[in-house]
Amino acid sequence: MSKTNKKGVLISFEGSEGCGKTTQIRRLANRCQDSGNDIVVTREPGGTEIGEEIRHLLKHTIKGERMTPEAELLLFAASRAQLVRELIIPSVNEGKMVLCDRYLDSTTVYQGVARQIAEDPVNNINSFAVGNIIPDLTIVLDVPAELGMKRIKNRFSDLPDRMEQETIEFYAKVREGYLVLANSIPDRFIVVDGTLNQDEIEEKIWEEVSLRYF
Ligand code: TYD
Repeated sequence: MSKTNKKGVLISFEGSEGCGKTTQIRRLANRCQDSGNDIVVTREPGGTEIGEEIRHLLKHTIKGERMTPEAELLLFAASRAQLVRELIIPSVNEGKMVLCDRYLDSTTVYQGVARQIAEDPVNNINSFAVGNIIPDLTIVLDVPAELGMKRIKNRFSDLPDRMEQETIEFYAKVREGYLVLANSIPDRFIVVDGTLNQDEIEEKIWEEVSLRYF
């Protein structure tokens, strides 16, 4: 992207657990780099030192403690507020393409739809955290909740973290939440069938990204 000296872009990847985002981000990053573009890959929660500390708090239950949905919402927002200002804005201003593994739509869906926190606080806190930095493109990898759960069970030999211990109904709500959201903002979102094989998914994402930005 920086070759042309223009402003960079922010692309976020979203989807429920086990949807395959991380693999596809890596594949897209490699492909973009091979074609000579400057890429920054980051993730949420995390992506900065402060964000990674917050990630630890969010993912690992402190013995005997139960995190409230409100505290959870604010911690995700805090990690994002740091990431936006420390990494995303400077990178985009340098003309880079930023690939972000989750962004504000995760909060809309997980805390808003699945945990059922009211829309107003979720939207207001999201806006406060990101300012006017909304992704140029958001790619949702869509998989049925059952398949996602099966994949994460196969993936980890150790115990699932706090966010991976929800019920199948929770992940079904997450999936549905993404589909409704994507449908309501069709200019920004594309939904890719995450049950296809990895090469097919990579190809579909590449087509969309290269068509728009290269
Ligand atoms: P992570 O290990 O990064 O999972 P994944 O590979 O599925 O992205 O953990 C992030 C978890 O945090 C995941 O369960 C989704 C959840 N999450 C929220 O609930 N709200 C948010 O705003 C974000 C960014 C993540």
